[in-house]
Amino acid sequence: MRGDTFDMVIFGGAGDLATRKLIPALYYLNKDGQIQGSSRILCTGRSEMDQAAMRDHAAGACRQYVRDSDLDDAALRAFLERLDYVKLSADDAGDFANLADQLNRQDPDRCRVFFLATAPKLFATICEGLAGAGLNTPQARVVLEKPLGSDLQSATEINRRVGAVFSEDQVFRIDHYLGKETVQNLMALRFGNALFEPLWRRTNINDVQITLAEQVGLEGRAGYYEHTGAMRDMIQNHLLQLLCIVAMEPPTATEANAVRDEKLKVLRALKPLSGQTAIRDTVRGQYRAGAINGQAVPGYLDEDGVEPDSRTETFAVIKAHIDTWRWAGVPFFLRTGKRLAERRAEIVINFRPVPLNIFGADLGDLPANRLVIRLQPDEGVSLNVLAKQPGPAMRLKPVSLRLDFARTFKVRPLDAYERLLTEVIRGNLTLFMRNDELEAAWRWVDPILAAWKDDGDRPRGYNAGSWGPSSAVSLLAREGFAWHEEVEDGP
Ligand code: BG6
Repeated sequence: MRGDTFDMVIFGGAGDLATRKLIPALYYLNKDGQIQGSSRILCTGRSEMDQAAMRDHAAGACRQYVRDSDLDDAALRAFLERLDYVKLSADDAGDFANLADQLNRQDPDRCRVFFLATAPKLFATICEGLAGAGLNTPQARVVLEKPLGSDLQSATEINRRVGAVFSEDQVFRIDHYLGKETVQNLMALRFGNALFEPLWRRTNINDVQITLAEQVGLEGRAGYYEHTGAMRDMIQNHLLQLLCIVAMEPPTATEANAVRDEKLKVLRALKPLSGQTAIRDTVRGQYRAGAINGQAVPGYLDEDGVEPDSRTETFAVIKAHIDTWRWAGVPFFLRTGKRLAERRAEIVINFRPVPLNIFGADLGDLPANRLVIRLQPDEGVSLNVLAKQPGPAMRLKPVSLRLDFARTFKVRPLDAYERLLTEVIRGNLTLFMRNDELEAAWRWVDPILAAWKDDGDRPRGYNAGSWGPSSAVSLLAREGFAWHEEVEDGP
């Protein structure tokens, strides 16, 4: 974005996402010289606030969420100079006219980014409001935060109404996992090396596990989470996007539609799960009181704002299959949950074992190779191989060939939002979901949600600080699989 000036309007500009993620990311971009000239950041919201109050709020956000070593007074002052506040109600045409007025005072031809960090039910109304004030110009870009809708029908309706006023190449649907450094590295690993591609298929791979485990609980977001649950909050978007990048065919280029076409094929090839099959191949859980890092934490039902008889799932596992020649028969285990034993986001590729142990029956079954792509914490990639232990006897031991990104590259990795905001300004859609991808993901998820509902929405209890309900282990064990942490054999 060097050399380009732009105006960014953040709807929900003093809200949770803006405060925790967008404002700190913009601070970093400004400090790194990525925000140029007279570029402005206008935060909007329904509360009465003036420029000074908004700048105070943003300064507080930076002090809280930017690392101390990266925060300096001069950089903060320079960043705050760009910030302003405009009061706006999504259903008030006069407010949009006022916004247009403010924007048109500067060069009306500059790139404009409208970031909708609001509830999804406002997306279409805000886009229509922008169009009503003539702000849907060709140089406008609109950024929509997940979750996009709560089912296929609502997502299609958002896409339809937004699509009536903005063209598809102006719409940036965010899934912040696609902006994470290691997810980008997965593309590099798969398509920048000749080594993996010939192995990357059913003949060599036993199973794939994608885990997004969190230690945090609700973080004061009961109002949102109660109606969302783990499936809509994490699986429909983050987990399925990671699955796409693991499973897609090599795209012909990294250009947006080349990548998105391949991801779409994966989503469309997911074997449908519904009715009793969905119940058999999934697990839902809800955390009870327990302890995280030695600290007692309350159960989900005792969290502020949660209904005492809530059935919302805070944990989910799905055994998915992709019906393609490459992947037929290979289970993809998707798992996510709050208040789990560790904060750990990783993709584990378990290879098939060697066909014959030539080292002697007393060694038993030789452990198979495993590739682990760690997204957080400690971003890196490790490949477990068997090596001979030094000494006279032929003893084999799994050891890890490890690439630790922080140690190898010694630069601060970009936060996902820094990268995604940069890409929005550049106009590069590769890291954003296309409308048909979004709809394909909901098309697969909806019947599972329906099956859960028909089954009486009964999440199993699990203790905070554990790895989820025991049925999450038995789902794999009954077919001879095991979760990575159960068989961990090195870092
Ligand atoms: C968000 C979810 O999309 O992702 C949150 O709404 C979740 O519930 C968060 O905590 C996890 O993101 P990260 O980057 O902290 O792993």
